[in-house]
Amino acid sequence: MEEWYKKIDGSSTVDELEQIRIAIFGKKGILAAEFAKMKSIAAQDRAGFAKELNEHKSSLMEQLRAKKEQLMLMKLQEDMEAEAIDVTLFSSMSQRGGLHPVMQVMDKIVEYFVSMNFSINTAKMIEDDFHNFEALNLPKYHPARDMQDTFYFKDEMLLRTHTSPVQIRTMMKEQPPIRMIAPGAVFRRDFDITHTPMFHQVEGLVVDDESVVSFANLKYILEDFLHYMFADVEVRFRPSFFPFTEPSAEVDISCIFCKGSGCRVCSQTGWLEVLGCGMVDQNVFDAVGYKNVSGYAFGLGVERFAMLIHHIGDLRSLFEGDIRLLEQFR
Ligand code: DAH
Repeated sequence: MEEWYKKIDGSSTVDELEQIRIAIFGKKGILAAEFAKMKSIAAQDRAGFAKELNEHKSSLMEQLRAKKEQLMLMKLQEDMEAEAIDVTLFSSMSQRGGLHPVMQVMDKIVEYFVSMNFSINTAKMIEDDFHNFEALNLPKYHPARDMQDTFYFKDEMLLRTHTSPVQIRTMMKEQPPIRMIAPGAVFRRDFDITHTPMFHQVEGLVVDDESVVSFANLKYILEDFLHYMFADVEVRFRPSFFPFTEPSAEVDISCIFCKGSGCRVCSQTGWLEVLGCGMVDQNVFDAVGYKNVSGYAFGLGVERFAMLIHHIGDLRSLFEGDIRLLEQFR
């Protein structure tokens, strides 16, 4: 019997152990053979013989069970090690993602103003009538409030049509000096090759003592900014109108496609309009309760910059999520 204990102990796989089990407990196994000897044993020795044999039987069974458990654990351990996945391994199949081209341009714009000491302010995209219109000197009858342009909710709530309400929220919360930009998404009921219902703007606002902030400051920073965004362009300021600024201007750059000689993109004018700006209207300061201050503000459309920088003809293509287009900007 001793040799069987040793065999069990020495087996190294579950299969080998199974063979040993059959050799011991099977119909033609050694135990069956031992029990068969009972018949030829003297009656008075039989009980002792059977007892000893039964003891072997149960201890062999117990040893088998314990050994099997041990071998299965070892096997599990081995399998887990063999199947382990090294998530840090390099794979040629993984695809690198990238920032959306509009966000890349947005980052570049924000980077410029941060380098010029502007802080970044944000606010919610769902606005009320007061912050989006009223406080910005856009009274009730103003055409910008038209249902054609604005997504309205009930109770005078709306999707902000521009980032200018962040000016109002900032001024009502903080005291001058203020030097901020507000990048973010804005919404208008528009859809054609240069308009999408959602697009992005970067707003700028600087407010300080009356003697400190002038139109010259505004002109300097926007010229510098546009030369940072577009190398080799001329910049011009054109008188314009915005309800929240007085005086107001629109800013053009010389056409980056035809260098000013006139082409389809610039409608033969040689100039491309890129942003709006002006000195903050006194009515806006009155609405937020500011006194004896002066300020300038500006606003620009990020998609417009992206279209110019990347020569994109149809703005809508940027928002279709087509990987073949987006891959080019990785
Ligand atoms: N809010 C204007 C728009 O959406 C853009 C703008 C123009 C913002 C002039 C300004 C500004 O702050 O001074 O068209």
